[in-house]
This record gives sequence, structure tokens and C-alpha cells, in this order.
Amino acid sequence: MKTCNFAVLYLLVSLFTLKAYTQETKTLEQKIDEQLKIFSSRFRYAPTQGPSDKRPHLYELGQSLFSDKRISMAGDTSCATCHQPQLGTGDGLPLSIGTGGTGDGLSRTQGSSTPTLRNAPPLYNKTHPGFQALFWDGRVSFSSKPKKLKTPNPNLNGENPVFDDIVSQLDNASAAQSLFPLINEIEMRGHNFSNLTDREVWDEVFNRVIKIEDYKVLFKRAFPNEKWNIGHVGKALAHFQDVEFSTRDTGWDKYLKGDLSALSLPEKKGALTFTRKGRCFMCHNGKHLTNFRFENIMVPHLSLNENFMDKGRGSIDKRKGAAFQFMVSPLRNVGLTAPYFHNGSMATIEEVIEHYNEPLESYNNYNEDKINELFEANYHMPFISKYTEEAENLLFRNASRSLHQFLALTEEEKENLSLFLKISLTEKRFVHLVQ
Ligand code: HEC
Ligand code: HEC
Repeated sequence: MKTCNFAVLYLLVSLFTLKAYTQETKTLEQKIDEQLKIFSSRFRYAPTQGPSDKRPHLYELGQSLFSDKRISMAGDTSCATCHQPQLGTGDGLPLSIGTGGTGDGLSRTQGSSTPTLRNAPPLYNKTHPGFQALFWDGRVSFSSKPKKLKTPNPNLNGENPVFDDIVSQLDNASAAQSLFPLINEIEMRGHNFSNLTDREVWDEVFNRVIKIEDYKVLFKRAFPNEKWNIGHVGKALAHFQDVEFSTRDTGWDKYLKGDLSALSLPEKKGALTFTRKGRCFMCHNGKHLTNFRFENIMVPHLSLNENFMDKGRGSIDKRKGAAFQFMVSPLRNVGLTAPYFHNGSMATIEEVIEHYNEPLESYNNYNEDKINELFEANYHMPFISKYTEEAENLLFRNASRSLHQFLALTEEEKENLSLFLKISLTEKRFVHLVQ
């Protein structure tokens, strides 16, 4: 009888503790939900809305062009060579291998090419209106009212009426951007064609494409009764990227739309660390988790070219503070887009988090061994990581004031932050594409 009483008592006590425990965890989670709600409105966190309406014929044209090597002068490189949907719309390499290279994706090798100077950025959402400046240094930009393009080719910037036929097709930054890989010597043009003007290369590419019977049909369907030019190529490439690479359904998007069960408790804690102790929101805020500004976060130098020192925005904007600033990256699908930063110097999200945790220490301890080990087979030369003393001084002096010297994140906080970046911000439909 006594044992029975004890058993009942024990059961009651355990039930009570279990209830108290679940209540406690529930209230913790509810508290986090409430805090995130406040932060979301304060820092304009908002769901991405997916692509604009699909125009099937325009999409089809853009889709064909995007992975067609015939739009490069040597016929060996397409946009997809460096922006592979299965590799997070990049190529998985620190620096890209364009015309003259051989093989695909992670097994692409340098061949007779000169690798690019920067990492191929992901294309997710880059067609959305917020992205008015493209490239790591923002050298192609667009504003709509009044329409104004700013690009490295002055003829496109409204200064030359001969280019009006092309410019009239370019109605967003992405369409204008798409024309530049075509004339870039190390991406799709090749050194053999350095003697041609940009316009000659664009005309040559366009004339080749339009001679192909299948393309004639696609152009006719996409742009009936128009006189086509390379601007139409840019427009189609932009529309394809918009339909194909827009996000709308990550856990974070669902959560922000009100589905509180879309994130696990550790992911929510990660979102909180992102916003509070990690201070990531200082630069990564708003709908796309970027303020669309240029910042210097003391990314270590990494290059295959001894003479190249990447000053980022500093090469476009001559003001002193612009040196070593790069565009703040948006973060949807960031778990799929390694390696990270403008030069691919960080192989994993965990390394990126360590960098932010103690930027100076991360910078000082950085060495290129890991990247060289991982990518030895892809390039002829090893990577080097050494700024000149002068560059290093400028890098330190210009470091963003929002970059905290020492975040002191605990191991658990780092793990949760990593879950938030890798799980909450990833849209499932893109994952099966990544091997
Ligand atoms: C050889 C590799 C390579 C090829 C081919 C290539 N890209 Fe890129 N792409 C890059 C690199 C590297 C950058 C970053 C360059 C920079 O910022 O200076 C880039 C930048 C971009 C950006 C800007 C993204 C941002 O975050 O600002 C877009 C959009 C883009 N490429 C689309 C295309 C399209 C469309 C094509 C085909 C017409 C193409 N790329 C061909 C490597 C490549
Ligand atoms: C001072 C502004 C600033 C702050 C604060 C900041 N970032 Fe960044 N973030 C940037 C910039 C600028 C880049 C691109 C830098 C580059 O490549 O040179 C970037 C890039 C990244 C990338 C790599 C994206 C890619 O595709 O390569 C990740 C991941 C990232 N940030 C996460 C975070 C996290 C997590 C925090 C908080 C711990 C944080 N950031 C805080 C400005 C900032």
C-alpha cells in the first residue's frame, strides 16, 4: 500500500515537474518570439516575395542564353559556368575560371585561363528592386526615376545616342550587369579579342546568336515586332534570373509571415544572437538582410596574382574611406554558397562567424593553407595572402565602426547563429540542386 502511495506521489511529482518544465521552455520560446517580433519591426526584417510574374517566352530565351557557351567569344564559357544553380549559383571556387578553363564546377581547372580577381557572388534575389548597385564594388548601378544607368562603359550612361537602342532595353541593374561578363576579357571575351571595342564584342555576340535558327524563334516569341540588339539579351537574362533565383519560402520567410513553428528553438536563438549580441543587424538588416551599403570588415587578402590588391569600392569611389569596402552581402541561401567573402577566403560559415567574433585575431591568424589544400587541383599557382604594409594600415584605419572588436560569443551562441544562417535562411527547393 505504502509503495503504491509512493508510486502515485512520484508520478504526480514527475508530471508536475514535466509540466513546469514544458511551461518554462514554452515561455522561453514565446519570449524569444516576442523579442524577434519587436526586432523585426525595428530592423525591417521582412519576407522576400518571390519572383515577379513569369513571362514564359522571355524566360525561355533567358534560360537558353544563361547556359549557352556560344555567347562567349571562344564558345567555351556560359554564365552558368560560374553561376551554377547546383552550386548555390556560384561555382564553389574562391576565384572563378572563365574562358580558357576546362571542366565544370568544383573540378574546373585553370587551363589557359586567367582566373577572376573576385569570388562569383550568388545570384539569389539580385534582380529585386533593392539591388540598385551590382558587383562587389557596385560599379553597375541603376535608378528608375528618372532612369539612370551608371556602368564602366560611359556609352551606356546616357552620353552617347548611338547606344540608345541598347539602353532602352535595360530597365534594371541586373539587365545592365548581364552585358559586362560578355566583354570581360577573363570571363567570356578572352584576351584574343582585346583589340575590339565593347560595342564590337556585343554586336559580334548578338549577330552570332541571332543567326541560330532556334534563337530566331525564341527572340520572335519574346520580343515580337521589335528590332533586337544585345540589350534584349540582357533583358532576357535578367528575367530568367528573377524567375529562377528568387526566394520566398525559407523558414525565416515563413516565420516572418507568422508561422512561428517554421523555426526550431535553436534557430530562433540564433536569430536573436544575429540581432542582439552578434550585432549582425548593424549591416545585415531589412528584407534581404543587407543595408545595401559598402563596408570594410577586414577580410583577409587572398589572391592568385602577386600584384593585385583589391581595394573594392575604393576603385570606383576615390574618397579615402571607400578603400577596402565591399557590398554588404544579402544572406538568403548563404548556407549553399561557400566559399565566402569577395575573394573566397573563408571556406565555411563557421570560419565567417569566428572572423566576426574577433576580427583582428581572425585577420592576424589567417593563412592561405586551407584554401590551397582544398583547391590545389583547380589552379596552376597557389593562393597568396599578404597585404603590403601600406594596404594593411589603410585596411585597419578604414575598418567599419560597426565591426565589434570582440563579440565574446559562447560556443552555443556560435552554433545557433550558424543554424540560423544555414537552416533558417535556406529555401528547400534550392537544396536538392546542391550536391
Ligand atoms: C568567369 C566566371 C563568370 C562568368 C562566365 C559570369 N560571371 Fe557573373 N560574376 C562573376 C564574378 C567573379 C563576379 C563578381 C565580379 C565583381 O564583383 O567584380 C560576378 C558578378 C555577377 C553579378 C553581380 C552579383 C552581385 O552580387 O552584385 C551578376 C548578376 C552576374 N555575375 C551574372 C552573370 C551573368 C548573367 C553572366 C552571363 C552573361 C555571368 N554572370 C557570367 C563570375 C562570372
Ligand atoms: C560592419 C558591417 C557588417 C557587420 C556588422 C556584419 N557584416 Fe556580414 N558582411 C558585411 C560585408 C561588407 C560583407 C562582404 C564582405 C566581403 O566579402 O568583403 C559581409 C559578408 C557576410 C557573409 C558572407 C556572404 C557571402 O556570400 O560571401 C556572411 C555569412 C555574413 N556576412 C554574416 C554575418 C554575421 C553572422 C554577422 C554578425 C556576427 C555579420 N555578418 C556582421 C558586413 C557586415
